[in-house]
Amino acid sequence: MENKDFFIIKKCDGLRGEVSVSGCKNAALPIMAATILSGGKTTLKNVPDLTDVRNMCEILGCFGAKITSTNKNEITIDTEKIYHTIAPYDLTCKLRGSFLVMGPMLARMKKVRLSLPGGCPIGARPVDLHLKGFAALGATITKGSGFVEVKCDELIGTKIYLDFPSVGATENILMAAVAAKGKTTIENAAAEPEIADLANFLNKMGAKISGAGTDTITIQGVEKFKGVKYSIMPDRIEAGTFMIASAITTGDIVIKDIVPEHVKPLTAKLLEMGADIEINANSIRVCAQRPCSAKDVKTLPFPGFPTDMQAQMMSLLTLSKGTGIVTETIFENRFMHVGELCRMGAQIKVEGHCAIVEGKRSLSGAKVSASDLRAGAALVLAGLAAKGETQVYDIRHIDRGYENLDVKLQNLGAVIERIERAPLQ
Ligand code: UD1
Repeated sequence: MENKDFFIIKKCDGLRGEVSVSGCKNAALPIMAATILSGGKTTLKNVPDLTDVRNMCEILGCFGAKITSTNKNEITIDTEKIYHTIAPYDLTCKLRGSFLVMGPMLARMKKVRLSLPGGCPIGARPVDLHLKGFAALGATITKGSGFVEVKCDELIGTKIYLDFPSVGATENILMAAVAAKGKTTIENAAAEPEIADLANFLNKMGAKISGAGTDTITIQGVEKFKGVKYSIMPDRIEAGTFMIASAITTGDIVIKDIVPEHVKPLTAKLLEMGADIEINANSIRVCAQRPCSAKDVKTLPFPGFPTDMQAQMMSLLTLSKGTGIVTETIFENRFMHVGELCRMGAQIKVEGHCAIVEGKRSLSGAKVSASDLRAGAALVLAGLAAKGETQVYDIRHIDRGYENLDVKLQNLGAVIERIERAPLQ
């Protein structure tokens, strides 16, 4: 049944305390897909308990993998037997990350057929770079009505230059190339920390990858992989969302179990905006004694400012002193939260890829809807700082990517309540 839960949020001044960040969704999904290569049992720790992760388990299950769970953040995936090479549309349509099974399935089974991921609220999100990479490795691509089939006799290492440093294409090509004959280089590769985490995992399984986390990745193909134990990296976007929760409520929050280097682009921006930040080995403290000063923000591939933090940063700018321009360069339609923030009294004008945000002294609570995961997080943040009561609907999007966001915020002093399955009025 479709989840119709919603959040009721009341204004809270000064969130305080410590919060532990969960495992990273965007690292967990490709790593789960990569277990297909192992042909054995892999135990993953620090796996976030999220809808997207559960859906990825179902997709692996439909290929024949057996998944067991000892606790909510640890899963064992046994891929000894893979029988099927087709994933049904009703599963793959639930998450775009499902396309990440293509590389490892091609490497192991020599063929795979998946539904083409459709557009999504934030943009068209094509997969041409993934497919060009597979073709360069020697695969043949057949597109049918709504699906794509990729086949090969064998994969042969080659040089691949990505027109754009796509995160998903880099991961998918990497997971195919680890089993290709000879050497592959991926140039203009995405350098996001999640790529390095995937490469660390693949190397532990037996792959020979160097340069992951930079724009040139070199892969020496190998024939055999083994099941391993691995702990997923912390979620830098969840960490960043709590950093902004502190700044927007003029709070003082210690965000624990993170890699501070991963949130550097946001740390730098918040410092510019006037927040006090203390960086420790595995944690970061964000303290804002007064409203932030507005600054301009432009999203870019890592180590630039992450597109996945754009919406949350926009919420902060709506309550900052002065005017900030947000430029979105990664996705073509990632301003769906603007209309909802304006319903709460925000002053934002969109011109093409830019949103001009005029900071105000206050927002007022309203009924708003999450159009996607990060837009949903942005509305929750705005609700924490808005006068009166905010109701955020369509929070199934938030549950796709944040583990217990409401409970974690409550522990920091927020007044946020999940109302279960109430119908929209
Ligand atoms: C991943 C993240 C997502 C994040 C995004 C950018 C996961 C599961 N999701 O998505 O949260 O917002 O990185 O950091 O890790 N593009 C093409 N052709 C392709 C592939 C991509 O033109 O074949 C374009 C996209 O339309 C988009 C841009 O490249 O405009 C970036 O997309 P990409 O880096 O691939 O994002 P995802 O891997 O889908």
